[in-house]
Amino acid sequence: TTLGASAAARDGRFFGTAVAASRLSDTAYTTILDREFNAVTPENEMKIDATEPNQNQFTYTNAERIVTHARGLGMQVRGHTLAWHSQQPGWMQSLSGTALRNAMLNHVTQVATHFRGQVTWWDVVNEAFSDNGDGSRRDSNLQRTGNDWIEAAFRAARTADPDAKLCYNDYNTDNWSSAKTQAVYRMVQDFKSRGVPIDCVGLQSHFTGGSSYPSNYRTTLSSFAALGVDVHITELDITNAPTAAYTNVTNDCLAVARCKGITVWGIRDSDSWRSGESPLLFTSSGGKKAAYTSVLTAL
Ligand code: XIL
Repeated sequence: TTLGASAAARDGRFFGTAVAASRLSDTAYTTILDREFNAVTPENEMKIDATEPNQNQFTYTNAERIVTHARGLGMQVRGHTLAWHSQQPGWMQSLSGTALRNAMLNHVTQVATHFRGQVTWWDVVNEAFSDNGDGSRRDSNLQRTGNDWIEAAFRAARTADPDAKLCYNDYNTDNWSSAKTQAVYRMVQDFKSRGVPIDCVGLQSHFTGGSSYPSNYRTTLSSFAALGVDVHITELDITNAPTAAYTNVTNDCLAVARCKGITVWGIRDSDSWRSGESPLLFTSSGGKKAAYTSVLTAL
């Protein structure tokens, strides 16, 4: 069996991976991708600098390479990401105020409309909270347009693609007792109480070692789920790929009915943005690591 098939057999969950368009010509890469996974997230190709490099000039070629490859094999696609402080094109970095707010909303509308019917989940907003320990928003040009920029992005995404599941995605939101996790929780609770459209929360889960995987991770997953949203593990990688941590993450997701799936942030260690840390499930030459077997056994 495979990761994707085993996850699908667990109440239709997904097991996905980040994919780079530039690697789709590497048959060692696509052999594993096509065999093991039933969902993909474009690693960079749907980010703002990739899809709108000049204002109001949209380029979808690389994103569509991934979407076409994935959908041709029946895999689901996670769109990543419509609004983010990082990987903004230069023109957007230099905007502020109403001009930036309108440009952001136009971007959300155009990109979500373009991929309507092809993207199952959108990471509408990525990484909007600060790591400073007080639960505040991250300072950014988008945040300076007003605290309501996140809900404005979600409303625009819902209008553009009413069938896509709309997610908020962030990192360091794994430990239930951290101020950042609590702040994201309160935002989702507020959105649900006021009818702001949100369907899911993504926990990136970039762990810097077995010890940075928190023992209350399952509580975090179940607490978000209790707000009435699905929970996704969206960018999993763990320094040195310890088997125990990979097993625990998998078991935590399976224990929470609304934890609908896991995406790892790349296929082979050599594909990882943290390639020096060997954090993934396949070796650089494409072999299955011990962590792969741990995850597959847990699924
Ligand atoms: C990373 C990619 O993996 C790199 O290739 C790129 O240079 C920088 O971005 N959080 C996210 C992802 O939401 O988009 C980031 O991806 C990793 C951290």
